[in-house]
Amino acid sequence: MSNAKSWLGLGMSLYFWGLMDLTTTVLSGTPTPPGKLEAFLSDKPQSHSRTKRSWVWNQFFVLEEYTGTDPLYVGKLHSDMDRGDGSIKYILSGEGAGVVFTIDDTTGDIHAIQRLDREERAQYTLRAQALDRRTGRPMEPESEFIIKIQDINDNEPKFLDGPYVATVPEMSPVGTSVIQVTATDADDPTYGNSARVMYSILQGQPYFSVDSKTGVIRTALMNMDREAKEYYEVIIQAKDMGGQLGGLAGTTTVNITLSDVNDNPPRFPQKHYQMNVLESAPVSSTVGRVFAKDLDEGINAEMKYTIVDGDGADAFDINTDPNFQVGIITVKKVI
Ligand SMILES: *[C@@H]1O[C@H](CO)[C@@H](O)[C@H](O)[C@H]1NC(C)=O
Repeated sequence: MSNAKSWLGLGMSLYFWGLMDLTTTVLSGTPTPPGKLEAFLSDKPQSHSRTKRSWVWNQFFVLEEYTGTDPLYVGKLHSDMDRGDGSIKYILSGEGAGVVFTIDDTTGDIHAIQRLDREERAQYTLRAQALDRRTGRPMEPESEFIIKIQDINDNEPKFLDGPYVATVPEMSPVGTSVIQVTATDADDPTYGNSARVMYSILQGQPYFSVDSKTGVIRTALMNMDREAKEYYEVIIQAKDMGGQLGGLAGTTTVNITLSDVNDNPPRFPQKHYQMNVLESAPVSSTVGRVFAKDLDEGINAEMKYTIVDGDGADAFDINTDPNFQVGIITVKKVI
């Protein structure tokens, strides 16, 4: 008997057809195959394209979300004691054996008979046995292997925290950070670009911009004036495949409000007011009211009226009505 043994059970080997440029990282904790591996050539026709074939001796890879009608070929178990006469019986056990994966007990071919979803389950640990079909005795020690589900880009980025609400002071300098939005993508972040997200702004320009990598939204226009436009509905898109054509996309809404800063002085709508008062009017009686408008809001629009100059400045008083922001002119002394 050949002494070319796979580490994976004495002489029992697994192989599969490289579907794509696979990463051939061996799982940590698994032994590195010894130098002398027996490679089995498949009877499948070789492609003339320059696809790189990777041989991995303890794991198979199979693409998720296969939609064909035939069972999906995963790979092959093979004992080097198998002379092809059907005297060896291959047995599969472990996670998904018989339900998700079946084996042809004569050829060792493994197929998936269910649609696989990597985001539901990324790998299966199975055990392989080769028995003497006549006696039922094991020909080899049982060995363990893994079927890894290979990611395809079947999940779009999602903004789990959206929609967002944010506030930024009006008149902020261009580039002021408003809020950071984050999209998550359920695809495999360690393989390809299916989970590599780029942000862009679909609505909200030229007032706001988004950092394509970080999702930080910033002000993009000078002198944004709350008194001119207070509310903005900004729509941010996250697209995987690094934002490239063919990537999947998701969006979120960010409602941004400009908060007030005190950038408007109070203004009297009239330059002159005419008021009359009887000379008999008692002290503290009201002469009239004046009202100045302030476009700001809250404390920035609160006013205090004072008499700064003029004839009879000592004859009249002005008080501020805090509820209506009105100045009330009263008689201060007998006229
Ligand atoms: C954002 O603003 C729109 C339009 O005013 C409103 O219908 C929506 O409810 C707001 N969303 C949030 C999260 O506040």
